[in-house]
Amino acid sequence: MRAYDLILKKRNGGELTTAEIEFLISGYTAGEIADYQMAALCMAIYFQGMSIRETADLTMAMAYSGDVNDLSGIEGTVIDKHSTGGVGDTTTLIVAPLVASCGVPVAKMSGRGLGHTGGTIDKLESIPGFQTEISQTEFVQQVNQIKLGLIAQTEALVPADKQLYALRDVTATVDSIPLIAASIMSKKIASGADGFVLDVKTGRGALMQNYAQSEVLAKTMVAIGKKVGKPTVALITDMDQPLGYAVGNALEVKEAISVLSGQGAADLTDLCLHLGAEMLVLAGHSPNQESGYKVVEQKLKSKAGLEKFRELISWQGGDPRVVGDLSLLPQASYQTEVRSRQSGYVSSIDALKIGSIAMQLGAGRKTKNSSIDLGVGIELKAKVGGYVERDQPLAVIHSNQPLQQEPQLVLNAFSISQARPQQRPLIWAKITEADV
Ligand code: URA
Ligand code: CA
Repeated sequence: MRAYDLILKKRNGGELTTAEIEFLISGYTAGEIADYQMAALCMAIYFQGMSIRETADLTMAMAYSGDVNDLSGIEGTVIDKHSTGGVGDTTTLIVAPLVASCGVPVAKMSGRGLGHTGGTIDKLESIPGFQTEISQTEFVQQVNQIKLGLIAQTEALVPADKQLYALRDVTATVDSIPLIAASIMSKKIASGADGFVLDVKTGRGALMQNYAQSEVLAKTMVAIGKKVGKPTVALITDMDQPLGYAVGNALEVKEAISVLSGQGAADLTDLCLHLGAEMLVLAGHSPNQESGYKVVEQKLKSKAGLEKFRELISWQGGDPRVVGDLSLLPQASYQTEVRSRQSGYVSSIDALKIGSIAMQLGAGRKTKNSSIDLGVGIELKAKVGGYVERDQPLAVIHSNQPLQQEPQLVLNAFSISQARPQQRPLIWAKITEADV
């Protein structure tokens, strides 16, 4: 086999065989196939696409390009939840303890934030002492004891994706649905879970801004799960305005604690209950979505999820007192209010703009190696559909340096209208294996 012939085949619209895909990925990971050939292949895939069979083969070849976690020591079915990335997306910190408090194991590996989207690991690290790197053996033991563990993805997982992603990033081939789907699903499969609940975001703050593309991505990933025998369901959810009120690492930990205390934002709370319900169904704990929803809602009301979050913090070396005393979390030195210049309904809040300003303040990373500032971010004081008076606060900027143009930029992210705006749905659609 020669890489040249396979590039030519894909360029001309052919379908690569399983063996050909394995040859390309193992050769590339071993350094035997050059970057320029892989770049040409990615561009051919960008234009010609891939069948579901090819995409599933690519996913598996990538998943097995390095270590694959063995979670077989965990009692029960392990269902992972994955978000394609959002602004103020605090769901993991809420859903994971809620589901674990139902007795269903949650053993989750998460990433760090990049660009305008946040990452669960950075958020957890704003809890003083919290360790996100623990050994595989300790991780499995912890999950068996308390049903919950949240750790950072290890470096040895999916080397093919690290190489390919860096290559796609500089060759204008990131936004190819088969390449995105294989990138995400390979990491999920290597993390070792038995099934997946995917939260595919749609809207201005999402990877896929337009609904039709979000649906194709969701269907592709559900089809991969089905093909490789890992039950998968996707919810397509709104990411046009930030989720909840808080955007920023420590700010989102505070927000997670308020949701788990029953006092959180309605959109964030409801999305968490829906995602939790889907996890209970896939794990075989609840017969259907409706009954799963009632079970997680009950765990929220009884504060069992909050207790589980406290237990997690303490098992992973963090200070569990943060749950009752939010002042123990990092705080930014300046709090600056942004006030509305007019009265009216908030008709939109641009999640991409808010996420980008929060990143510039230090809440996120511009490049992989940037360091982040855990205390900073943006706290919304109004959401889409709400009515504000002139001079009423729309947001508070938390920063560690005096601000310059940021208040104006935050103000520009808000649109105010005289007519009550049409609300976008929180959950646009659910994609199951029956739909693909
Ligand atoms: N997120 C990923 O993990 N991979 C992609 O290719 C795009 C977004
Ligand atoms: Ca939030």
